[in-house]
Amino acid sequence: MSNTTNTNRVALVTGASSGIGRACALRLAADGFAVVVGGRNADRAGAVIDEISAAGGTVTTALGDVAEPGYGEAAVATAVGTFGRLDVLVNAAGVITRADAEGTSDEEWYRVMSTNVDGLFRTSRAALPALRSAGGGAIVNISSTNGLVGAAGLAAYCASKGAVTNLTRAMALDHAAEGIRVNAVCPGAVDTHMLYSERDRTVDEVRAINLPDIPEGRIPVAEEVAHLVAFLADDRSRHVNGANLSVDGGYTAA
Ligand SMILES: NC(=O)c1ccc[n+]([C@@H]2O[C@H](COP(=O)([O-])OP(=O)(O)OC[C@H]3O[C@@H](n4cnc5c(N)ncnc54)[C@H](O)[C@@H]3O)[C@@H](O)[C@H]2O)c1
Repeated sequence: MSNTTNTNRVALVTGASSGIGRACALRLAADGFAVVVGGRNADRAGAVIDEISAAGGTVTTALGDVAEPGYGEAAVATAVGTFGRLDVLVNAAGVITRADAEGTSDEEWYRVMSTNVDGLFRTSRAALPALRSAGGGAIVNISSTNGLVGAAGLAAYCASKGAVTNLTRAMALDHAAEGIRVNAVCPGAVDTHMLYSERDRTVDEVRAINLPDIPEGRIPVAEEVAHLVAFLADDRSRHVNGANLSVDGGYTAA
């Protein structure tokens, strides 16, 4: 369903060339936002741009590595320079490493933290002046159920998503009076590349391992997460702030 109230509004989505970020970019474009597609791979980002353009949406790209200092500033400058403003930032770029603490090298720890925490923090910080200039706006972080509860064999990932969960609360408090809302969605297992990555298992084996822990008994597609992100991005959710909302089929209700 199209939401025309977002016409002339602008959203930047990191990690938008695949998975949840891609679904968010497509959803926000369909809801009327001009979208800046963040990503590292020009071909994959280009495919998302083509999809949005073909559907009649307004779109550009901001290529780069969110872990690199300066990426956030450059991406926000692209949004403001191209479309004149920024109303929404969706931080979807993320990586995972599947190991307990002893199995996590310094290199892997920093790879996860520099993307999931440093990159998200710096991009959010860079977005604040533009969101303020637009008269307020929304940051939506893609956290995880692993930011709400622990999980075995995911030490660095759980640490990173725990940081996202509480940074979300802290920034919500700091910027509420400016009309800048900061919320997070906390998906459980979602049917994307990340769910199946870094495992010596087939897709069917991964699904069989995850399904018994999901009360609904189903692994969702990325679009189901994007619906909640779109709600948090616009005025329908104007009294929702500092929330970490799970999209997990009941996993964290247990
Ligand atoms: N799939 C799941 O089961 C699941 C569950 C909970 C949370 N999440 C979170 O959702 C978000 C999106 O993941 P996804 O499931 O869509 O997987 P995905 O691998 O399809 O998407 C992650 C995207 O982030 C990009 N990315 C990674 N590191 C980057 C960097 N340094 N700079 C720029 N882009 C970078 C990747 O290129 C990719 O496009 C992540 O933050 C992830 O932690 C995923």
